[in-house]
Amino acid sequence: MRGRFITIEGTEGVGKTTNIEYIKQWLDTNHISFVSTREPGGTPLAEEIRELLLANREEKVCSKAELLMMFAGRAQHIDQVIEPQLAAGNWVLCDRFTDATYAYQGAGREMGNELIASLETMVHASMRPDLTLVLDVPVELGLERAGKRSEPDRFELEKTDFFNRVRNAYLSMAEQNPQRYKIIDASKTLEFVQQQIAYTLNNFLTTDHNG
Ligand code: TMP
Repeated sequence: MRGRFITIEGTEGVGKTTNIEYIKQWLDTNHISFVSTREPGGTPLAEEIRELLLANREEKVCSKAELLMMFAGRAQHIDQVIEPQLAAGNWVLCDRFTDATYAYQGAGREMGNELIASLETMVHASMRPDLTLVLDVPVELGLERAGKRSEPDRFELEKTDFFNRVRNAYLSMAEQNPQRYKIIDASKTLEFVQQQIAYTLNNFLTTDHNG
């Protein structure tokens, strides 16, 4: 039986890392074999591309170069990790995937969706996550939380308007396809956020098209 593909999305400072740890525990508790991975990244080559993407540099990175690097890493990640793991029956838990490209490059960089949709078709045809958790917090709160961490990367240096476009894009994707996307209100206490996640995952497991 093919594994399930679960992705976690959200703007900066929504608590992805902490909540991914929680989801890993949930998967263990439910005796589900899985791999946990991320984008950009997830293979040695794709992690090198991640470094290129996140580095602050004097040269302006044009949006098309950024977009193509995202998909270059993704193609490698799908080929080396995601697809073989799903085919082997393992679940794949991925910190961001193509929805992040629609949100960050499509909306944030204002590239629109058309070019992304054609690259999406080229790189992963009709393959889509089975479940996408969108961790949502107001942008100001997220940036305040993220600001307390390490040095900002090239994306974290963007302005509030950029992240508002990113957030709105996630919310609108979720609104258009409530079957796949579940919005988690991540502005609440950690305990409540994790209750929402557990509820969503339990629901997914029991209603899942598993066979
Ligand atoms: P991370 O901070 O969640 O690890 O992600 C690194 C940055 O990459 C984050 O600011 C979002 C950005 N990103 C895109 O712009 N497009 C994409 O397709 C992906 C996967 C990430």
